[in-house]
Amino acid sequence: MSRVLYPGSFDPLHLGHLDVIEHARELFGEVVVAVLHNHAKDSGMFHVDERVEMARTAVSHLSGVSVSEHAGLAVQAAEATGSDFVVKGLRTPGDFEIEQQMAHMNHSAAGVRTVFLPCRPDLAFVSSRFVREIAKYGGDVAHLVPRVVADALAERFDGSEQNRAPR
Ligand code: PNS
Repeated sequence: MSRVLYPGSFDPLHLGHLDVIEHARELFGEVVVAVLHNHAKDSGMFHVDERVEMARTAVSHLSGVSVSEHAGLAVQAAEATGSDFVVKGLRTPGDFEIEQQMAHMNHSAAGVRTVFLPCRPDLAFVSSRFVREIAKYGGDVAHLVPRVVADALAERFDGSEQNRAPR
């Protein structure tokens, strides 16, 4: 049994993320979902506290899974949480190219290994960016995200400017 770190922006967490979390827990026993402040993506849709809260609700039925918030590097979050290694989900070959480079960098910089898990094929098209975009313009994302996230998006965008046609 190992403790693994699953880092991400989770802005917001979607069902593809949840599948990776469940898969990792099944394989390794303990999963720390690390909501990272990503300086490259500072203008997130949800505040980091909201992301953490939603993620906690979404994984509350899973024993061995915790959610924490971290600034800085993923390898620092791994060290801070006592995680044995990092887990990442792969949707596409494009994901692999980016993640492989990051995995090598994290190993060379801090000796932290990364394990890749393929995502569920029927969720391979899901991304937080598309979820945000569809929800912003009033589209339905209820089949792509946990209930708590769907509710938060509905509350955020119900009757908002984004839903109105331009005059
Ligand atoms: O959900 P995302 O946006 O794909 O997550 C990307 C994330 C936050 C996991 C990645 O950008 C990351 O690890 N950021 C922390 C900064 C870091 O460790 N950078 C060094 C990478 S070699």
